[in-house]
Amino acid sequence: MMYSLFSFSLLILSLVAGSTRSLAHPRKPHGADPHNHANASRSSSLVSAAWYAGWHSDDFPLASVSWNKYTHLTYSFAVTTPDVNTISLDGSNPDVLPQFVETAHNNGVKALVSVGGWTGSLYYSTAVGSAENRTAFVKTITDFATKYKLDGIDFDWEYPGTQGIGCNAVNADDTTNFLAFLRELRAHPVGKHLILTAATSVFPWAGPDGNQLSDVSGFAKELDWIAIMNYDVWGPWSATTGPNAPLNDTCASAENQQGSAVSAVAQWSAAGIPTHQIVLGVASYGHSFHVNVSDAIDDSGSLRPYAPFDAALQPTGDKWDDDAGVDECGNENGPGGNFDFWGLIDAGFLTLSGDPAPLTAYDFDVCSQTAYVYHEESEVFVSFDDARAFTAKGHFIKDTKLRGFAIWEAGGDFNDILLDAIRSGAGAA
Ligand SMILES: *[C@@H]1O[C@H](CO)[C@@H](O)[C@H](O)[C@H]1NC(C)=O
Ligand SMILES: *[C@@H]1O[C@H](CO)[C@@H](O)[C@H](O)[C@H]1NC(C)=O
Ligand SMILES: *[C@@H]1O[C@H](CO)[C@@H](O)[C@H](O)[C@H]1NC(C)=O
Ligand SMILES: *[C@@H]1O[C@H](CO)[C@@H](O)[C@H](O)[C@H]1NC(C)=O
Repeated sequence: MMYSLFSFSLLILSLVAGSTRSLAHPRKPHGADPHNHANASRSSSLVSAAWYAGWHSDDFPLASVSWNKYTHLTYSFAVTTPDVNTISLDGSNPDVLPQFVETAHNNGVKALVSVGGWTGSLYYSTAVGSAENRTAFVKTITDFATKYKLDGIDFDWEYPGTQGIGCNAVNADDTTNFLAFLRELRAHPVGKHLILTAATSVFPWAGPDGNQLSDVSGFAKELDWIAIMNYDVWGPWSATTGPNAPLNDTCASAENQQGSAVSAVAQWSAAGIPTHQIVLGVASYGHSFHVNVSDAIDDSGSLRPYAPFDAALQPTGDKWDDDAGVDECGNENGPGGNFDFWGLIDAGFLTLSGDPAPLTAYDFDVCSQTAYVYHEESEVFVSFDDARAFTAKGHFIKDTKLRGFAIWEAGGDFNDILLDAIRSGAGAA
């Protein structure tokens, strides 16, 4: 299953992992590390980050990561389990994590692990659901960070106070409990030195009534930053095709205002997270749809960004796409239809330089700053971010004084075309 973040849109639709015992011999992490973590992480230098999906390490080994272009890499995922004393790396190649951390440190890059994800958030609510459990979960997290010599932990709870995949434990007090847990973690001798981040949806966390909170400023005191997962805003679950990761939607028609970097940053900062503690999550993959020729192309010969599509003919994406199957909740799903940026090159939509290939229809929606490609013969239509879209997001980060970017996922890029574009747009290169 796709472990990344899925959209709020999915919320309206709608594993137990094995165990890795916590450590018997905690050592003080970073004892010999000359960097002061809290200080370094709280300074205002650009965060140039990506998630590294452990389960793709055979295809995208550590040696393929462009370490010198990143400040932070986050290994994904350690998943929550029914036992608050355990988080599990099962399914994410646990054997690779120590080498990941060592390689990051050899390159001066901070190494984090992300806890949760779309399929790994089933037991977050209970892990922080009582004072006793919060204390136990603080120990679980700090023992894990110590065992693996981590610089930080990314909390990817999808989502506090609202359902995600469909079978997560959910409690009205989730967001309050999450904050209480973070306070306790920050007060812990190991926790206070960790970089603590949270991956979030485009909407601020939900309160007891299930609606988004207007004040989440308490989190800004505990977390170094949040990474807004501004992707999966449109996908195969939507009514029409649309942008996976819109930069802007305030310029779109009312029905197409479903979230964007512009509106998400406005909402999170209005709710009390300062822009210098907001990292923009960006996507190195796009979503495909089956769209017939008359729906895909308008009278002027342009691709329609918001076209009807045939969900029954959902295309399969690239080699990393999720096959049709049964998810962690026991529900049947079709193929995901995701194409990584390299997958669009492999499938013949793009050339090796990331430009449209011959026979590919291409358009760029200026409001959402999204690329669209289409092959008439297969009737496969894909919305994704290309170098132009990543450059625009880099400019937005710079102009809005955000903390930086985080790419889901490092291995989705091809020859650093996207990474170089966003770094240069943000003023890092
Ligand atoms: C903390 O960061 C500031 C700059 O932001 C630097 O001047 C100072 O030396 C740093 N302190 C430590 C202990 O690293
Ligand atoms: C505390 O954690 C245990 C699992 O370790 C769980 O069974 C229990 O329901 C949790 N308590 C609360 C109040 O969520
Ligand atoms: C978003 O769209 C609005 C309305 O058209 C416009 O005023 C604003 O400049 C746009 N922002 C960005 C970052 O594109
Ligand atoms: C394309 O699909 C639409 C429905 O989305 C349908 O009305 C139309 O007849 C189809 N056109 C062709 C050429 O199949």
